[in-house]
Amino acid sequence: MKVAVLGAAGGIGQALSLLLKLDLPAGTDLALYDLAPVTPGVAVDLSHIPTAVKVTGYGKEDLHTALAGADIVMIPAGMPRKPGMDRSDLFNINAGVVKTLAEAIVQQCPKALVGIITNPVNTTVAIAADVFKKAGTYDPRRLFGVTTLDVIRAETFIGELKGKNPTEVTVPVIGGHSGTTILPLLSQVAGVSFSDDEVASLTHRIQNAGTEVVEAKAGGGSATLSMGQAAARFCISLIKGLQGEKVTEYAYVEGNGEYARFFAQPITLGKNGVEALLPIGTLSGYEQKAMNDMLGTLKADISLGEEFVKNN
Ligand SMILES: NC(=O)c1ccc[n+]([C@@H]2O[C@H](COP(=O)([O-])OP(=O)(O)OC[C@H]3O[C@@H](n4cnc5c(N)ncnc54)[C@H](O)[C@@H]3O)[C@@H](O)[C@H]2O)c1
Repeated sequence: MKVAVLGAAGGIGQALSLLLKLDLPAGTDLALYDLAPVTPGVAVDLSHIPTAVKVTGYGKEDLHTALAGADIVMIPAGMPRKPGMDRSDLFNINAGVVKTLAEAIVQQCPKALVGIITNPVNTTVAIAADVFKKAGTYDPRRLFGVTTLDVIRAETFIGELKGKNPTEVTVPVIGGHSGTTILPLLSQVAGVSFSDDEVASLTHRIQNAGTEVVEAKAGGGSATLSMGQAAARFCISLIKGLQGEKVTEYAYVEGNGEYARFFAQPITLGKNGVEALLPIGTLSGYEQKAMNDMLGTLKADISLGEEFVKNN
């Protein structure tokens, strides 16, 4: 098995690569690629950790070698937010980054499972999909926007609020990955109940948790460590699926288009990526209204990505 991390020298990339070095199955190759000259050094650094995962670093010119034959590609390459920025402000820079990387994936590992972390995820996933489509290699079962951070944040905040161990809390989070498109389904959390005020304040906190980190880092970037953990968790679930285990995760995928072309929802992972799209269940009145209110934004975010590929 080979896993490639693109953007591996960044805040998320380094945290993710560390966790993958520790948690990937023995015998896995871990290929680290980034434009930053420090990348081979990051790989050497990680290679001194005694696990049976072989780490190799690739610099600017070696994207194609880094990707050759990869089974999984995780992409945290690109610019993060600074205070006052919305995820959509990153579009001008990150759209081109994702397009370039997707074009290389087409050539080197068209059957890889690809997890996109680069923001704005609502849009960058559409860009990757349409690059693959243009090349004739698109398989919607193999492309994922990584929204796991929204899920782990929701689990943490509910654990804190209700005095529960967050590892025992499970929260469905559907929709997209920015602002109101992030929709936690608090009515479906087992074993706890919420007042109307709690639903409103928790929903707001989960939707704006990224901004909480951006502001606390005061210009130093956005979530990297929690995102590294979220991405590692998702990547390990992809691996388990490839190994024949059935795993359920939430991710932003192209499903049946019932709500929008791409939509974060529960999925079963298997040997070909998405093995089954699972239903989102019954929504409360509050959640249904929030869903109706945000679908226009989500669809516009998706169109932006589609237009970008059409025009570039
Ligand atoms: N999906 C999520 O939940 C989520 C959460 C947090 C951050 N993010 C996003 O993840 C991205 C990375 O965040 P970060 O904090 O790690 O940023 P960072 O600036 O610390 O790291 C980004 C890395 O990408 C590299 N890079 C830029 N262009 C590249 C290219 N063309 N090829 C390869 N590498 C390239 C940079 O050299 C840098 O090392 C941002 O877009 C951020 O908004 C997503």
